[in-house]
Amino acid sequence: MSEELKKKNNVADTSEVLYLGIDLGTSETTVCASNGISARRKSVVGWPKDLISQKLLGKDMLFGEEALKHKLALNLFRPLEKGVIKDTDGDLEAAKELVKYIISLAKPKKYTKVYAVIGAPARASFTNHQAIIDAAREVVDAVMIVSEPFSVGYGEGKISNSLVIDIGAGTTDICSLKGTMPEENDQITIVKAGDYIDDILVESVKKKIDGAQITKDMARKWKEEYSFVMEPEKPAVTQITIEGKPVRIDITKNIEEACMSIVPDIVISCRNIIASFDPEFQEELKQNIILAGGGSCIRNLDKKIAKELRSLGNIRITKVQDPFIAGAKGALALAKDLTDDYWRAL
Ligand SMILES: Nc1ncnc2c1ncn2[C@@H]1O[C@H](COP(=O)(O)OP(=O)(O)OP(=O)(O)O)[C@@H](O)[C@H]1O
Ligand SMILES: [Mg+2]
Repeated sequence: MSEELKKKNNVADTSEVLYLGIDLGTSETTVCASNGISARRKSVVGWPKDLISQKLLGKDMLFGEEALKHKLALNLFRPLEKGVIKDTDGDLEAAKELVKYIISLAKPKKYTKVYAVIGAPARASFTNHQAIIDAAREVVDAVMIVSEPFSVGYGEGKISNSLVIDIGAGTTDICSLKGTMPEENDQITIVKAGDYIDDILVESVKKKIDGAQITKDMARKWKEEYSFVMEPEKPAVTQITIEGKPVRIDITKNIEEACMSIVPDIVISCRNIIASFDPEFQEELKQNIILAGGGSCIRNLDKKIAKELRSLGNIRITKVQDPFIAGAKGALALAKDLTDDYWRAL
């Protein structure tokens, strides 16, 4: 292929191998590829309910935002929940199709070999990962599954004596890394994360304002705009409707309460993981705490967790730079670092 043609086809390097890093998340799935392509889609898959909807939509299957937009005409699946792939035929099929779809966005057909590292929620990476491997194997030459905290740590260049707190939508995974792939007892999964905050926020605003009609989607949007613990950046003032009438309300306190609802469990789990780490390296571990996932955007959360852990001594928490692609970027870095022999053996 000539250099000019490569440029035109968006092929970044001369190698014939395409490496992929994928973050398979409960709420969103992300791919970063060695050809420079990256994409992120909601982890939602829908099949048209009948022939009419299939004809109208002109597709056999829809993904992400597009599926949500047409959800009334679709059988809709969110295949991941609480850190695992749901165990129904429809969800397993949806998870497979989602993996194939996200890989297709990286234009793998132009390459002779495609190697993928997939970061899956920590619990799924131990339990039902065979479905993910089967799906990926249909479209790539070799695939490796790692737990999401490991790919985040790898991307940050901190895979030994570090602690990753990954606050996603469905779960918060807290995992210590000691230079190898984490094992089941290196980590704790808490089913309190972004979705849980949204639920708490819905309830607390409903309690504050009689007759308020609040959906989980509204709560998620408010959270994403105003989330904080300790000091707010600005008052959280928003508009809702009560019996059809628009009303402005201040939900600053509600936002704080909802965001705080995940903190105690995170702190307890961090303490447990630190205490069970090799005592020789606990000091280093406490200096290498990485806060990741969408939940790391909560203003001051790093400071709050550090404050709560202070009785253990000096604590340093760093936030990943771009929490929404950190997992996929780390997985890509790992894919590129593995030798060709390793990939061939897989
Ligand atoms: N500014 C923000 N403040 C607080 N939460 C946020 C913010 N932006 C996004 N989020 C939340 O982060 C969550 C999504 O994070 P992420 O993409 O890491 O999840 P995921 O990887 O799909 O889920 P999981 O890791 O549970 O499988 C959602 O709950 C979203 O509402
Ligand atoms: Mg995640």
